[in-house]
This record gives sequence, C-alpha cells and structure tokens, in this order.
Amino acid sequence: MDNRPIGVFDSGLGGLTAVRELMQVLPQESIVYFGDTGRVPYGTKSAETIRKYTRQDIAFLKTNGVKMILAACGTVSSVASEIGDACGLPFTGVLRPTAEAAIRVTKTGKIGVIGTQATVSSGSYERHVKALDPKAEVYSCACPLFVPFVENGVIAPEDPMVRLVVERYLHYFDEKGIDTLILGCTHYPILQESIAAVMGDSVTLINSGREAALHCVEMLRENGQLCGEGASPCHQFFVSDQVDGFQSMADICLGHAVDAAVRFIDIDRYPA
Ligand code: DGL
Repeated sequence: MDNRPIGVFDSGLGGLTAVRELMQVLPQESIVYFGDTGRVPYGTKSAETIRKYTRQDIAFLKTNGVKMILAACGTVSSVASEIGDACGLPFTGVLRPTAEAAIRVTKTGKIGVIGTQATVSSGSYERHVKALDPKAEVYSCACPLFVPFVENGVIAPEDPMVRLVVERYLHYFDEKGIDTLILGCTHYPILQESIAAVMGDSVTLINSGREAALHCVEMLRENGQLCGEGASPCHQFFVSDQVDGFQSMADICLGHAVDAAVRFIDIDRYPA
C-alpha cells in the first residue's frame, strides 16, 4: 500500500487524456500533473532538446514525492524513455501498452500510426508493434498541426479548419487497408471525433493515453503500490506558463472541471 501520488507529465495538455482514464479507474489515487505549456510542442524539437526537457520534467515530479512516473507523451516515450527507465522510480511511457492494444484489436494486421514528427521519425511504434507481431504492416504519418490546434482550443469537429487539416493528413491512409489506427500522441483523442469521421467505422482508434493509464494500474498492482482503502485523492496541476488558458482547456481534456488550483513552476530551475 502506498498513498503517495502518481506523477504524470506531458509537453502540455495532452497528458490529461491519460489522467482522465487514471481518475476513472483509480478514483482514490492522488495525481501530480505537470504540463510543460511554456515549451510545447516537443514533437518538432531535436532529440537532444526533448531529452533535456524530459530530465527536467522528471526532476520536478520527483521533488513532489511521487511513487511512479507516467510519461503521458508519445514524443518523450519515443525519444527519451531511457531517461525515465533510469529515474529510480517505476516508470512507463505509452508505447508498449499502446502497441499491445493495437495487436489485440487488429484483424488484418495492417495498423496505422499518427503522431508528432519526432515520434514518427523515431520509428518507435513500428518497432514495438513488429516486436509483438513481425508480420504486422505499419503505416505512419506525422500530423504536426494537431498539437497546436488542441493547445489553442481549435478542436470543434464542425470547424472547417479542423476538418481540412484532419482530412489532409489522414488522406495518407487511403488505400492502405488499415483496420486499426494508433493515436500515438496523447493530444489526439481531443480530435477523436473528427479523426473517426474521416477514417470511418471500419477503423478502430487506439487511445495511447488510455492504454498507458491502464498499464499504470497494472504496474501499481504488481508492485503492491495501490493506495489504501478509503484514501482521499489530492490532485495537483502544474504548468510552466500561464495558468489561465490551462484551466478551461484542461476541463475539456479531463471531461470535468479541474478541482484544484493550477500552479506555475519555473521548469528551468530543475537540472537538465
Ligand atoms: N502529447 C505529446 C505527445 O504525445 C505532444 C508532443 C508535442 O508537444 O509535440 O507526443
């Protein structure tokens, strides 16, 4: 039994899609969330910069006495997971649980992946999927405009800009015959309705935040680190830029109002 909070981080708001799942499955657990809103997006940055940011994000969470860390970010999981693995706490990214879910779901063995430029260039999802099933065919497409759209609240399915951008990117999958599409960035579930409308009913979408959250639950169970019966959750949210915008968008990502004050931290104070 371990009543310390679970630490979750992302470049911005996207990781809240994983927090939403965690809160549903483990309502008694406390969560410390850090969204690096001052430096989002990560997915267009160099591997060196993403690793530096990851070291600082993890260092910050560790100062909050967390019991495990979830990198709720496809980009960090793809480029800098070794930093998490060496952080001295139980750690998971999103790749393995998401690849496992895709393999469970696919019938044709043809799997699409959408993610940030850094994620797609790394080939990380493809490696994880093929490690589970070498015969699987993986088609990957970077969608760099999705993260700024979500961070700026441009998400309504009826918005012509959203429709245009989603159609433009997903056009890549025409004729590929995929039956499963990995939303390889935790921001993308916010655009899920628009993505599903373009891909059609024959394609199942895999939410990487949800799969990672479910994996966290398994890890906590296996490690005997679930919180005690009757624990009352205390959530904390931190960002590295303005708190105001975060609050309203966070409500959308979480599916309910943020029930705690959102606080600013100066992430540059943490060791890189
Ligand atoms: N949510 C992050 C991911 O899963 C977005 C990365 C970014 O900031 O570009 O990849």
